[in-house]
Amino acid sequence: MSAALLEVRGLTRHFRVRDGFRQHRTAVAVDGIDLALRAGEAYGLVGESGSGKSTVARMILRLLSPTAGTMVFRGQDITALQGEALMRLRENIQIVFQDPHASLNPRKTIFFSVAEPLVIHRGLRGTALQNRVEEVLEIVGLSGNFLYRYPHELSGGQKQRVCIARAVALDPKLLVLDEPTSALDVSVQAQVLEFLRDLKARLDLTYLFISHDLSVVRHLCDRVGVMYLGRIVEEGAVAKVFSAPDHPYTQSLLSAVPLPQAKQPAGRIVLSGDVPSPMAVPSGCAFHPRCPRKIGAVCETERPSLDSRPQGRRVACHL
Ligand SMILES: Nc1ncnc2c1ncn2[C@@H]1O[C@H](COP(=O)(O)OP(=O)(O)OP(=O)(O)O)[C@@H](O)[C@H]1O
Ligand SMILES: [Mg+2]
Repeated sequence: MSAALLEVRGLTRHFRVRDGFRQHRTAVAVDGIDLALRAGEAYGLVGESGSGKSTVARMILRLLSPTAGTMVFRGQDITALQGEALMRLRENIQIVFQDPHASLNPRKTIFFSVAEPLVIHRGLRGTALQNRVEEVLEIVGLSGNFLYRYPHELSGGQKQRVCIARAVALDPKLLVLDEPTSALDVSVQAQVLEFLRDLKARLDLTYLFISHDLSVVRHLCDRVGVMYLGRIVEEGAVAKVFSAPDHPYTQSLLSAVPLPQAKQPAGRIVLSGDVPSPMAVPSGCAFHPRCPRKIGAVCETERPSLDSRPQGRRVACHL
């Protein structure tokens, strides 16, 4: 667990949005993030709604092109891959979305959904295809009698397992999980999380696990990156960040959720105001208008860099 599997530098994504009768404005969804995923780890990306987590995921998957920045996967620059090389990349980086219902074609059997990537990427047919589909469904805990069922005949948890089966069918190295359990009943969430933990070890996967649920990340991940308005403001080992968060934003996030065994900051820190719009990111430290520990003008004018601190932690704060 050392070499970086995926390294992104200065990853940025702007969106041009229509803003009423004014013509166009630029929304800064992701604002120059640096991130290195180590082979074999589970990295949790957390942050409030709109902080840019899914946009990061879509760029890594090459579903969306970055406005700026580079992405290197297993030593290869993947920022602008095309054609055959992009096909090969897609075998190695797969994604599981939040809503399994929306991810599966309601008119196709489970067999079809899981077989599709194997046909497209590997050209499998006949018995070889049948065998691999059964094998993959077995891995996710769904036995052969699911093969010819349709999505509506399955529970939410079972559907999400099918999506996971589809994602691991090609033996990817990196699995991006974008809120994989948020759409599921609470009673099934824990089960799917346990299953994901087990799957990672069994298939030797690396996870980029996106969630706004801190307790889920704490349970499943080795490291965590906290996003605010398109930037990573704090990063480190889950055990360290959750027991002693350094960034005032992380502190406020953690103070809002009861976490067993985590040291809670004294009392709940209630932030004033709402998350600013990505069309009007505040100057300096983007968190300064809401920060309970703002130290002065420097916070308003200078953007804090994500500096390395002891124990492999990084924090972007002037404090
Ligand atoms: N296609 C798009 N066009 C315009 N703006 C977009 C587009 N996609 C995302 N955005 C904006 O980019 C910002 C980041 O969105 P993103 O979906 O990455 O956030 P998120 O952290 O995944 O949020 P959530 O927790 O709600 O899933 C938001 O302000 C969003 O409105
Ligand atoms: Mg999202």
